[in-house]
Amino acid sequence: MIELDGRRFNSDNHGKGLTHELQSEISVNGRACGQLRVFYPEDKPFLIPEEQRLIDAVARDLEMWIERKRLEQALVSIAEEQQRLIGQELHDNLGQQIASIGYQAKALEKKIAACGSVDAATIAASIASQAQVAVMLCKQIAQGLLPFELETNGLTAALQAFASRIAATYKITCDFVCKNGVIIRDNDSALNLYRITQEAVNNAIRHGGANHLIISLASNEGILRLSICDNGRGFAGTSAKNGMTPGMGIKIMQYRARQFGATLAFLKRPEGGVEVRLEMRTD
Ligand SMILES: Nc1ncnc2c1ncn2[C@@H]1O[C@H](COP(=O)(O)OP(=O)(O)OP(=O)(O)O)[C@@H](O)[C@H]1O
Ligand SMILES: [Mg+2]
Repeated sequence: MIELDGRRFNSDNHGKGLTHELQSEISVNGRACGQLRVFYPEDKPFLIPEEQRLIDAVARDLEMWIERKRLEQALVSIAEEQQRLIGQELHDNLGQQIASIGYQAKALEKKIAACGSVDAATIAASIASQAQVAVMLCKQIAQGLLPFELETNGLTAALQAFASRIAATYKITCDFVCKNGVIIRDNDSALNLYRITQEAVNNAIRHGGANHLIISLASNEGILRLSICDNGRGFAGTSAKNGMTPGMGIKIMQYRARQFGATLAFLKRPEGGVEVRLEMRTD
């Protein structure tokens, strides 16, 4: 039996006439968080010191595994927090500053034009229009970092807006299809689904050279399916789709899927390209 943070995990034969017990404490970062307990039948002789050493070794392995899981979790939430901060700064601070430069350049253009200096007025007008473009870019980057629609209108609206943004930015087709009105109430799961979609789409464009993408979200008989299909070159080797690459994207996608008990598959499409398919039970 493993006890971790108040939760118990038993093997099938637990409690069936097993009366003797050896145990080892499990602690992470100096804090006790559970125990590994092994039960034996009364009549079975065993070598206590050897068994105890083995159980201690398994408990140490478990500690390392838990530490790694917590570190993984901390890294992803730090990255999420950083994205949120940078997105907010870009949108609320830098974006506003550039907008005000634009307004002032526009005002300057009018004044210079009134004085009859056409060349100088053209330069001021050009500064104003470049500032406008920079404000738009700031907003676009901030939207990628901070999915505003997700918080206000939910996952479906956020994915729809994301697909339109991708199509407009890369001049490709990116369709979003939602079947049977999917509603995700848990904000963390919705954010994880959104980030997985972002990474799959970026990979399809960057690595697959895809110019047609379909993002689909459907819920059927208690199974939610999110799928991102591309018409790109597909995976070059077998190791990439197993996450055996120096890149972090697929590893983080897999981590995010595990966070809410979903399975993630990277499939070769018969018509070419890749399908990233996530499935999870919703009941
Ligand atoms: N849709 C795709 N089409 C073709 N190849 C892909 C696709 N998705 C992933 N790959 C391949 O899998 C590799 C690993 O992807 P992953 O997202 O883990 O890393 P990365 O994109 O290279 O780096 P990072 O995501 O950290 O910026 C990519 O380098 C690419 O070779
Ligand atoms: Mg990637």
